[in-house]
Amino acid sequence: MNAARGRDTAHLLADFGHQLPTLHKPAPPAREARLFPPTPRHGVRQRGRGWAPASAPVSVWRMTSDQAPVLWPLIAAPGLPPTGAQMGIDHLSGGSFYADPNGWVLDDAIPVTNPNIFAFGKPGRGKSGTVKAFCLRMMDFGYRTLILGDPKDEYEKLCRALGVQPFAIGHGLGARINPLAFGPLAQGWADLPTAEAQRRAAIVFGRWLTLVRGLVGSQRLGDAHVPFGPTDEVVVKTALAHLTGYTAGNTRLTETTIPQLWRLLDQPTAELVTECRYATERQFLDETRLLRDALGQLVSGALAGLFDDHTTIAVDWTAPIQSLSLSRLEALGDEAIGIALTCLNSWGRGMRELAMPGDLRIVVRDESWKQLRLGPDAVKSFDADLRLSRRDGDIQFAVAHKPSDLLSAGDADSQATAIAKDLLHLADIKILHGQDQAVGEELERLLGLGPIAQDLVTGWAMHGKGRALWCVGDRQYKVATLLHPAEAALAYTNDALDSAR
Ligand SMILES: Nc1ncnc2c1ncn2[C@@H]1O[C@H](COP(=O)(O)OP(=O)(O)OP(=O)(O)O)[C@@H](O)[C@H]1O
Ligand SMILES: [Mg+2]
Repeated sequence: MNAARGRDTAHLLADFGHQLPTLHKPAPPAREARLFPPTPRHGVRQRGRGWAPASAPVSVWRMTSDQAPVLWPLIAAPGLPPTGAQMGIDHLSGGSFYADPNGWVLDDAIPVTNPNIFAFGKPGRGKSGTVKAFCLRMMDFGYRTLILGDPKDEYEKLCRALGVQPFAIGHGLGARINPLAFGPLAQGWADLPTAEAQRRAAIVFGRWLTLVRGLVGSQRLGDAHVPFGPTDEVVVKTALAHLTGYTAGNTRLTETTIPQLWRLLDQPTAELVTECRYATERQFLDETRLLRDALGQLVSGALAGLFDDHTTIAVDWTAPIQSLSLSRLEALGDEAIGIALTCLNSWGRGMRELAMPGDLRIVVRDESWKQLRLGPDAVKSFDADLRLSRRDGDIQFAVAHKPSDLLSAGDADSQATAIAKDLLHLADIKILHGQDQAVGEELERLLGLGPIAQDLVTGWAMHGKGRALWCVGDRQYKVATLLHPAEAALAYTNDALDSAR
């Protein structure tokens, strides 16, 4: 008995003649042989072995899994499978981050129902760099890329590196695009059964109407946009049916152009006037004046000679990438570029209408805010493109500066704003690059980001190019896209500033 600890209960009772039964103590278990030699607290003091002068400050926390997400809300997102493009580092898990939009749609465990991507970010934060890395890395999985309008010609280096010559669109250049092209849907028209011909006609006419609505509606009448109502729709649709020979039930349809459409409306035939239910030619001309003048602007306006004749470029759809450079239009202003993008989108959509199964493509719309700012009808035409993506398997990748670019199409409560808000939800994947503090609140309002995610976008993501918060459905990942030096050379967009060094 240790004197310092005094007498214990057993001794005390023994003094009074009670003997407590003694408890048999089990032998201590034999220690297992060490598998690894013990490591000193500061690591092994040897070159290359990780010795540290101070031990790592590890704090231990204990809480339930209910409470943990309150303290570390961003750690809660479960990992994504390692399939698709390896983009860089997931800073929350410390592992690699892989992007595979179509794979995510097919995986029921991931809350994504469409493969569309919207990327937002302040200029120069690495949005286009991420697009380029994504497209390049997806090529290994059989994806081809279509750059539907490159307003800064910044994809040219990438195209050339892949052995493809991009098409340049501008005044005085040979390349013309007909947004009223049929695309592959007109193939073998003569042999199509009636039901199939009607189905295809509905798709083609639908696309053309969306385009004309977008083009007419992008023009302004004072503060308001030129209206395009149901009567205008009937007139345009009937005129297009006449021009293509669809009305006459031809076995071969004739491709038409915007100037031809405008000319027919300007000098309507007697059949067109009657079919559109106007009493006289005079009445037809009076009531379609606004429509005709708006279309006339496209024929004789800034973009004349670019989108008003038959397509002159032969696109090789089997090439890994195709791009349409638009920098030559820059001097014409944002609006002209927006209209050019609307025309290209319609054409591009037509070209993809009969995509073969397995022909996987990433359709990139960089600087899409220029189109979205044109007005509600341009937003609708954009919306139509995104809705199609699930049908044809394309990944639509749109790049804008901030979510409210989509809202500038109309007044706060207008229909355009409602459509633009819906449009945001049409892309289940959003990549949020760095933003100024002022935009942070908007991210909360329009995308419902919590304060922590908002801080990441306005803080962490601003401190490095390529850093972004990836929202995959309602899960969030803190990702830094890493560029290989060869990719960095292809993604370099600061050439103009180099002389300032
Ligand atoms: N992940 C990255 N790591 C390092 N540098 C990058 C990364 N992404 C882009 N950069 C560099 O940052 C510069 C600007 O990038 P980028 O052109 O992609 O920005 P952006 O957000 O598309 O800008 P803008 O809105 O003006 O189009 C480029 O010179 C590019 O080389
Ligand atoms: Mg860019």
